[in-house]
Amino acid sequence: MTRIAVIGCGYVGAVSAACFAELGHEVDCVDTDPDRIALLRSGRSPIHEPGLEPLIQKGIQGRRLHFLDEYPDQFEAKIVFIAVNTPESSEGAADIRWVRDAVSSVAARLGPGSIIVNKSTVPIGTGELVAGMAGRAGRGPVSVVSNPEFLREGSAVRDFMQPDRVVLGSDDPQAIERVASLYAPLEPVIQRTDIRTAEMIKYASNAFLATKISFINEIASICEALGADVAEVAHGMGMDVRIGGQFLKAGLGWGGSCFPKDVKALAHMAAIHGAHPQLLRSVMEINSDQRLRAVAKLRGALGELEGQRVAILGAAFKANTDDTRQSPALELAQLLLLEGASVAIYDPVVPAARLNHLVPMATVAGSVEEAAKDATAVVVATDWPEFIHMDLARLGEGMARRVLVDGRNVLDPLAVRAAGFDYRCVGRPGAEGPALAPALEGVHA
Ligand code: UDX
Ligand code: UDX
Repeated sequence: MTRIAVIGCGYVGAVSAACFAELGHEVDCVDTDPDRIALLRSGRSPIHEPGLEPLIQKGIQGRRLHFLDEYPDQFEAKIVFIAVNTPESSEGAADIRWVRDAVSSVAARLGPGSIIVNKSTVPIGTGELVAGMAGRAGRGPVSVVSNPEFLREGSAVRDFMQPDRVVLGSDDPQAIERVASLYAPLEPVIQRTDIRTAEMIKYASNAFLATKISFINEIASICEALGADVAEVAHGMGMDVRIGGQFLKAGLGWGGSCFPKDVKALAHMAAIHGAHPQLLRSVMEINSDQRLRAVAKLRGALGELEGQRVAILGAAFKANTDDTRQSPALELAQLLLLEGASVAIYDPVVPAARLNHLVPMATVAGSVEEAAKDATAVVVATDWPEFIHMDLARLGEGMARRVLVDGRNVLDPLAVRAAGFDYRCVGRPGAEGPALAPALEGVHA
């Protein structure tokens, strides 16, 4: 058992802290948001993350998880993880002001021989900046390790407990081994490297995954033009182990708190250091086009959008999370409102009050049927299981027109068309409407 501290109890910090406690370590969690700490102390998770709340409760009961809303005078822990947010700045760079704040607070409270571990996604070179700040705090030698997170929201606990790899970067091999020992019960594959390389592995991983999705979205557009089925194409490609089948789902494109800011920040870093990030720029452009293409599909089905009523199913940026940061669903809602449509949104877990605040011009519905009532079209914008299994006959009953745009390619085209819908999707036969799918139409004739 090792005593550690985690600064920032958000999506990454809360999951990491609870999982480290589950591995037997004693964890002090500090967050500057007192409401969040009060919630965590009462054993509740501040975020919708499957499996997290039971781990928090177990950690509290076992006295291995402690939540603090201010920094202790002196850290008892010798290893302190920084997991504060690093949002996008208006210039597209990662804004590391919270990392700086956390490091200056931490460095003043550490004993000699301590380690600051950076889990936040930070620009390449930040590790050296942190080392400099820690050195100036004058509390004796402190080592810095970069340990980027690869936790997907919705499966973050599993991703922590069953990592594909743990990346540890530092110029201090002993510090690397001390951090590696925290993960020992998981018996992970560990990559030991220098700090800049570890920081770059994080950006390159997210940029590659985003590229894979934009690639398949571009192929989807070509499939639409040429009458091929992108879902089958992705399946066929994915069976090649050199390619792999994951992150090849065409749809409304990627969103969330990481891909958009990380791809942009990497492109920004590249450009200000004289490299020309043309692939990354295309990856971002294809992604924003996916939302516009969904608007065009609705226009193709409905005609002018002014006065239409569109139900958007899902507000989170993907299923199994309540996170709406850079959500394609909400970006689509805004685009439709700009076109003069009225919009009703339903999400199984995002609180209505938050949606009212984020998209004040839209109506927030309490169920799929309520959102679809009197709608001329429904868009499946998030791949929540509830939408994959919804009762199509019931859905259609209350609608003014039965148009369904499947922005995540999660529904069975034959079943949706059989339920009397004009069904449109992304890159599959009939993606642009029934005219392109004579064979499918024939099946139902
Ligand atoms: C994390 C990362 O650290 C980010 O770099 C990565 O790219 C994505 O995941 P995330 O966990 O999503 O960020 O952030 P968020 O859910 O916003 O939580 C950050 C927490 O840090 C909040 O609870 C906030 O109150 C806390 N915080 C922020 C501090 O405790 N101190 C600060 O100075 C700033
Ligand atoms: C990502 C990284 O995957 C994870 O390692 C960590 O660095 C945090 O950022 P996350 O943002 O939680 O995780 O979600 P992820 O599952 O990667 O999905 C990102 C976006 O891509 C979502 O909007 C999702 O809907 C979209 N996506 C994903 C697709 O459009 N198609 C796919 O095939 C996969």
